[in-house]
Amino acid sequence: MSCTAPGHPRLPGRPRNQRPDEPEDPRHFWLRQVKPLLRKHVTPFFLFSLRPLQWRLARADRALQGIPVKHWWSAKTLTLPPLWQWWRKEGRGIEVVSEFELRAALAEGFTPEAILVNGPAKQDWLPGFERCGLRVNLDSPAEAAVLLPLAAKYKWQLGLRLAPGVCRSADSRARPGQFGMSLPELREVLRRARRIGIEPEVLHFHLGTQIPSADWYAAALEEAATLCHQLHWHPQVVDCGGGWPLDGALDPTNRPLARGFSIPAFAQALQRARKSFAHLKEFWLENGRWLAAPAGVLVVRVRDLKTRGTVRYAICDGGRTLHGMVSTWERHDLVVLPERAGRRVPTIVTGPTCMTFDVLAEAGLPRGLRAGDHLIWMHAGAYNLSWETRFSHGLAPVLWHDGRVVQQVRPRESFDQWYGRWMPAPADPPKPRSG
Ligand SMILES: Cc1ncc(COP(=O)(O)O)c(C=O)c1O
Repeated sequence: MSCTAPGHPRLPGRPRNQRPDEPEDPRHFWLRQVKPLLRKHVTPFFLFSLRPLQWRLARADRALQGIPVKHWWSAKTLTLPPLWQWWRKEGRGIEVVSEFELRAALAEGFTPEAILVNGPAKQDWLPGFERCGLRVNLDSPAEAAVLLPLAAKYKWQLGLRLAPGVCRSADSRARPGQFGMSLPELREVLRRARRIGIEPEVLHFHLGTQIPSADWYAAALEEAATLCHQLHWHPQVVDCGGGWPLDGALDPTNRPLARGFSIPAFAQALQRARKSFAHLKEFWLENGRWLAAPAGVLVVRVRDLKTRGTVRYAICDGGRTLHGMVSTWERHDLVVLPERAGRRVPTIVTGPTCMTFDVLAEAGLPRGLRAGDHLIWMHAGAYNLSWETRFSHGLAPVLWHDGRVVQQVRPRESFDQWYGRWMPAPADPPKPRSG
């Protein structure tokens, strides 16, 4: 039984979130994976699988055929060591934005050349990494002042991050983000780099997340080409960042998040842009959400049911506050296990924390839903592990399906781990003697 928000029309034929190139309906795929686990594993737990990620990559490769494109794994989107291992063995690189992510990438065996360092304010922590061959995208003149001498010393491959105007002019995103550089800033950094004999090879931009249309990328590429012309700069790589929107999920008004986005249109934008960058060798992409979200689910169990007027609450052992922060702005499919009969009843699925905010989903669920039933929250693979909390509870276990078998790769957090992180309380000062 798969349920969507009340009132959302179900498309006839192929299920709404199944792509023509997915070999199996994702809901059936996840049901097959989850069912046997319920005998052995107690909820809540996350389950990740390599299969949906492979389907995604195959789909991207088909759409971008004939265009030189390299995908970087966005470490912040999903930090999952066995997945990173697989990705590394495929000969792919990882994009990191913090000291911990860089250390984790090195610990998992990525070579410096396979690590792309992005993000703002890197001058605070990157100088500690005296590694040759890193790839580093500079985000500001202040960063450049500290990092350029190191880039020369350690032969880092440098990129410059542009703040594209499209982020400012389109729809509600009226504020420019804090990332990247304006034209005068780029000019200054380029001048400083050239003065010490470095020619940056990568032009980078990241438009944000859930980008509504491929036109945004086309506009950013056009702007980037104009700017490169003005700066007499010929990058070999154009890094378009991440941002492909998640198909298979809805926005808070129940409209598909990816309704205006087309990967073939994105491919056309890249094809057109190839002509504008004379020295271009390849494009880089850093899509996080689009690749990772379908690769994971959250499995929770209904612990209590309450009816309040026309609404039913299903209080579960996992939810938004602890495990599903993205449910704040995304609506994901829920699968009920076992399948239950009865007409759909508007149901608010909550987690166990003492916050009315803790709403994982609002969905039409079957009247026959019982306490003890399981719910599979789909598309949980992106950003939820990164944003999980310890709000009154410990962290949930994480299971990994490598395409053949499932194994637990992170245990449930124990009380000692949850509470034992604190330093022992300072000893009381000796009491003054009386008398
Ligand atoms: C520089 C950069 N690249 C890639 C990503 C991944 O974005 P998304 O998950 O929307 O694809 C982000 C997300 O914040 C980012 O900041």
